[in-house]
Amino acid sequence: MRKEKITKAVIPAAGLGTRFLPVTKASPKEMLPLVDKPLIQYVVEEAVAAGISQIIIITGRGKRAIEDHFDISFELEEILKQTGKEHYIPGLRRISDMADFCYIRQSQPQGLGHAILCAKHLIGDEPFAVLLGDDIVDHSTPALKQMIDVYERTPAPIIGIQRVDKSEVHQYGILDATPAIDDLYKINHLVEKPAVEDAPSDLAVIGRYILIPEIFDLLEKTKPGKNNEIQLTDALNDLTTLRTMYGYVIKGDRYDAGDKLGFLQATVKMGLKNPKLGGAFKQYLKKLAL
Ligand code: G1P
Repeated sequence: MRKEKITKAVIPAAGLGTRFLPVTKASPKEMLPLVDKPLIQYVVEEAVAAGISQIIIITGRGKRAIEDHFDISFELEEILKQTGKEHYIPGLRRISDMADFCYIRQSQPQGLGHAILCAKHLIGDEPFAVLLGDDIVDHSTPALKQMIDVYERTPAPIIGIQRVDKSEVHQYGILDATPAIDDLYKINHLVEKPAVEDAPSDLAVIGRYILIPEIFDLLEKTKPGKNNEIQLTDALNDLTTLRTMYGYVIKGDRYDAGDKLGFLQATVKMGLKNPKLGGAFKQYLKKLAL
């Protein structure tokens, strides 16, 4: 496979967020705040830190707040200027200046595979990254940067993985894979959300992928699978028959922030890490008679 710099990332954000109802009834789950930033901003910042300059967000009904967040807020800036609070403006501008943002509306949620397929015409003929907003990974080297570093040495499709408890395999894409070098596994096949007795391993797909345009041809042919949705995992499984593909064990603490408990855990972690709030928050937690 020819090696090319990865500059585009797709972030699917059209899901209904049913695991987080009722808060997601009228608000996008991607805009839930971890301390003072919405989830999707963490993911965009991770992509930008890995060298991505074009962010393609797949949205749907009720997701307008995402576009507004990454746009310039002219009215807000004017009010901040008029009220002597212009010192907030550079921080706000940084959000809209981070990258070029494009939006595609997926008219009906038909699964992750279908969402990625919506980006076909914007990706063209180059490798690209996919980041799922539910998966927040905290590490000194951002998760996607770790994977792009691996890709630069081993130009092949790479899927971010971590080991999960056997009791959780039914929530993930699971790999049948053979250890290669270091933290890389050569993928033999993948299965989406298997029952524990059918799971080929405990190596779970975490929401970070480096993909190649061939995936689109496969997605176009992919029939609805698990939960009657077009599954990215099924198309990736087909890709394993055409290409050598790797799973890379992502370093870092990973939180499923689309789940209520995972979100609370991520909030505590990010709260403690926050330079301004961390100290006081730690004192507060210590005082709780847990
Ligand atoms: C998706 C993928 C699954 C992957 C998971 C990681 O599932 O389909 O393979 O393991 O993300 O978070 P979802 O959680 O969107 O149902």
